[in-house]
Amino acid sequence: MTAHLSEVSAAAAVTPAARGRFFVFEGIDGSGKSTVARMMHERMMAADRRSVLTAEPTDSWIGDMVRRGNEEASSPFTETLLYVADRAEHTAQIGQWMADGNHVLCDRYVGSTIAYQGVTLRPHLGNTAPEWLRTVNAPFTLRPDATFLMVIDPEDAMERLGSRPGREKFEKLDFLRQVDEEYRRLAEQDGYVLIDASLPLEEVAEAVWAIVKDAPQ
Ligand code: TMP
Repeated sequence: MTAHLSEVSAAAAVTPAARGRFFVFEGIDGSGKSTVARMMHERMMAADRRSVLTAEPTDSWIGDMVRRGNEEASSPFTETLLYVADRAEHTAQIGQWMADGNHVLCDRYVGSTIAYQGVTLRPHLGNTAPEWLRTVNAPFTLRPDATFLMVIDPEDAMERLGSRPGREKFEKLDFLRQVDEEYRRLAEQDGYVLIDASLPLEEVAEAVWAIVKDAPQ
């Protein structure tokens, strides 16, 4: 359909929204990153800023496959590639949200794959696992404006999760310690913003908000 001239000029008069910023929240299970991401979204909304709160694994059909893969896949490569497929679709969405002028707050992103699958793939790929994961993700990851790493002792994180003593807890703790090490390496390499997640929640939120609130819109 051809637009009338008056419609065209009216549309042209609308200022295109400035591109939003991209903030990522990373950390081991029990670090409180989902709570902090949600709090930042609430503060954004309260300040009349356009903001989208999102997470990986996503709630799409591929996200469902990721969750199913976690239960059923016998190969850690299958699990890894499902996370990566989920991210490929998610990144396209994130780019669109930002182009529409929204700030995007993302609970887990590529850092989760490098940190967690860096551990699960180490028996197969040795020390090259993190670099391999970075390469596989590279074509469809956006560079966040800031990635916040919620740093907490794995044992304290496990306590927050209410884990019972026993073999399963022991295995999980050992796993989270390794993930924590991968995260710390990544943080140094990629300039993550380290947040002391052992502090009271309000203080943690303030530390993150001090950076997020300045995102122009
Ligand atoms: P959540 O508890 O933050 O929802 O994350 C679900 C689990 O998925 C968590 O144990 C971390 C794991 N995970 C990975 O192992 N790799 C990834 O790339 C992502 C996004 C999550």
